[in-house]
Amino acid sequence: MWEGTIRETVRLNNGVEMPRFGFGTVFTNKDIIRWAIQYGLRNIDTATDYDNEDMVGQAVKESGLKREEVFITTKVWNSSQGYEKTLAAFEYSLKQLDTDYVDLYLIHWPCPDNDLYIDTWKAMEKLYKDGRIRAIGVSNFYPEWIERIKNECEILPAIDQVEYHPFYQQRVIKEYCDREGIQMEAFSPLCQGKVEDSFVLKKIAAKYGKTCSQVTLRFLYQENIVIMPRSTKEWRIKQNFDIFDFSLDDEDMEIIRSLSTPQGRINMDPYTFHEQKNLKDQIKEREEREKQQNNQ
Ligand SMILES: NC(=O)c1ccc[n+]([C@@H]2O[C@H](COP(=O)([O-])OP(=O)(O)OC[C@H]3O[C@@H](n4cnc5c(N)ncnc54)[C@H](OP(=O)(O)O)[C@@H]3O)[C@@H](O)[C@H]2O)c1
Repeated sequence: MWEGTIRETVRLNNGVEMPRFGFGTVFTNKDIIRWAIQYGLRNIDTATDYDNEDMVGQAVKESGLKREEVFITTKVWNSSQGYEKTLAAFEYSLKQLDTDYVDLYLIHWPCPDNDLYIDTWKAMEKLYKDGRIRAIGVSNFYPEWIERIKNECEILPAIDQVEYHPFYQQRVIKEYCDREGIQMEAFSPLCQGKVEDSFVLKKIAAKYGKTCSQVTLRFLYQENIVIMPRSTKEWRIKQNFDIFDFSLDDEDMEIIRSLSTPQGRINMDPYTFHEQKNLKDQIKEREEREKQQNNQ
């Protein structure tokens, strides 16, 4: 029943069609990315920070699909913000992905205290105008930072990718994006698996004969948010996207809307997150710290 629907697209503010259902790739592997594409997902989310752009490029090639059949998002990392650095970072991403264009390029985090996101955006506008990127957007941006882009630059972001799941619904940003014609995209849509533990979601899931993850993804779909859950397991990916044979009624939508609290955030705070090291180095440092603590 849902075959075909998984390929549904949304039209971005520059006319580009973006698949509404995608695949998050952090901490995954090439085989599962290739499998997800062959299964039907056409929107693959990566980032230079994840250190897996090369793997994504290979998975797309090995899927047997043409490059233009897969929508690839990547992101400029914090340490590459600024005009010249962003131009160089983009070339690096293209090389890693082994492609000559990117569908969507995002500023990964605003890092407002560094005050470089405007220069970064101007570099992205140049790449966009040169035809090297099909759409440009932001991630983890609050309206005040998008307002600056609006006032000081030429092109409005097509996307704002933010943390959004039942326990942390950033509705102020959502309402702003809806008003401005910016598409919202949810990261950590399953609250990294924690939605499965919710008593309230379990009750709703039982009513529809679905899982909490399916109810969550259906909720986000009905809220008109682009989603890209991650899983390393084929059976879960299949199950997660089996959401087109039911529809949440208004009452259940309201109940799920009421689950959001300010304490629900599981990722970093965009006001204060300025990490310059990439994920691989951060993990290495953490592991070494833990090893030292265990030895004490
Ligand atoms: N822009 C940003 O700053 C930013 C930040 C974070 C993430 N992202 C992007 O968003 C993507 C998704 O977010 P995320 O990876 O943080 O979290 P997520 O998609 O909410 O959750 C992924 C976790 O949930 C588990 N899971 C998946 N399906 C499940 C199911 N049906 N039941 C129980 N557990 C399930 C997965 O484990 P298994 O592998 O064992 O299934 C994995 O541990 C990322 O991969 C990344 O591409 C972007």
